[in-house]
Amino acid sequence: MQSVRIADIREHDGEEVTIKGWLYNKRSSGGIHFLIIRDGTGFMQAVAVRGEIPDDQFELCNNLTQESSILVTGRIRADKRAAGGFEMSATGVELVQLAEEYPITLKEHGVDFLLDHRHLWIRNPRQHAALLVRDEVISAAEDWLRSNGFVKIDAPILTPAACEGTTTLFETDYFGEKAYLSQSGQLYNEAACMAFGKVYCYGPTFRAEKSKTRRHLIEFWMIEPEMAYATQEDNMVIQEEFLSYIVQRCLAKRRQELITLERDLSKLECIVPPFPRLSYDEAVELLHEEGKEFEWGDDFGAPDEATISMKYDKPVFVTGYPTKVKAFYMQPDPDRPEIVKCSDLLAPEGYGEIIGSSERIHDLDLLAARMREHNLPEEAYGWYLDLRRYGSVPHSGFGLGIERTVAWITGSEHVREMIPFPRLINRIYP
Ligand code: 4AD
Ligand code: MG
Repeated sequence: MQSVRIADIREHDGEEVTIKGWLYNKRSSGGIHFLIIRDGTGFMQAVAVRGEIPDDQFELCNNLTQESSILVTGRIRADKRAAGGFEMSATGVELVQLAEEYPITLKEHGVDFLLDHRHLWIRNPRQHAALLVRDEVISAAEDWLRSNGFVKIDAPILTPAACEGTTTLFETDYFGEKAYLSQSGQLYNEAACMAFGKVYCYGPTFRAEKSKTRRHLIEFWMIEPEMAYATQEDNMVIQEEFLSYIVQRCLAKRRQELITLERDLSKLECIVPPFPRLSYDEAVELLHEEGKEFEWGDDFGAPDEATISMKYDKPVFVTGYPTKVKAFYMQPDPDRPEIVKCSDLLAPEGYGEIIGSSERIHDLDLLAARMREHNLPEEAYGWYLDLRRYGSVPHSGFGLGIERTVAWITGSEHVREMIPFPRLINRIYP
């Protein structure tokens, strides 16, 4: 018998096919078993009627436990009442393994319990849907970059120096020398864009963040484009096109999953360029108008970003942050050296920062001075300074955090469920 995927079921209306999957749920009434099966690509109901499948297989259905692995054969038929639009009339059920009592029942569980069972929890329809959206975000991002001339360059994970400040570094021993897990591939991207023009890297990044919030992971994934000869203005135009493409792709390809997650799709449909822009100064004024206490020169916390981003129905660029709250490599504004040519992109509905971006310092002396101010050891950054010695040009780039972006697109509360196996301040299991 031809085996097919639930995701492709509409191509098999009227055919007899086999689905290789697991039992998600079961309801029995009189001589009928209603089996909800999942196969990794979707969920579907198979209806097994006594007399329409062999008796021993009907009896088997009586004893099937949640998450037992089964091969279900039957005829596919369109049914408007069915969740995915199709159902199966079973003609055979074959057992692969009878599952032991499954710890995650269909009742409510606490989040700690669920995180302890994350290796099983990812089978749950909502978790599964969110991770499929995550997959779409990643593939849409890479497709857009490649079709716009960006070359993928992989940055190292083990590095001799910090990119985003020394307070959140993970230190490890590198054959007797100190090494750090990468906080960002940016510095290597800067070298690569001088060799390839437009580049990006995609990989895991690590921050020993002491903060326990719904936006912070210890290990998260970031996609980072970098462009030679690009100004911060060019950088923002790229970001709004890039992010709009990602959102529209999720709407087109993962609509069913977004519906499973009860996402308000109209909030995503309006995500098209251009995005509003707000200077840091204006953002501070906005906070004051909202009655919040905030002093010019401070960095925004999550509640401040939430207040700002609630005001917009599209992501909003906040530009020109104070130099002293941003990273050492950011280009100062020539007219106002107390601010830098940078922007954070804040996702609407209170989600806050999903992209950090800037133009980079291209002058050797200025960069060296900044590194001294930040107490960064020059030996570890010799190669990075070289980039300002041999054909330095203005250049810009950004980093989009995958899990925060997925949290916003799916309308989820917490980033911890936007990654298959979250690393949190108090959790490294499973
Ligand atoms: O703003 P960040 O720190 O920027 C950089 O790392 C730059 N070097 C990127 C670049 O220009 N190439 O981080 C970028 C994004 C944030 O906007 C956020 O989406 C995400 O990474 N991020 C986190 N996501 C989850 N947990 C954390 N602890 C995160 N820290 C940053
Ligand atoms: Mg940032």
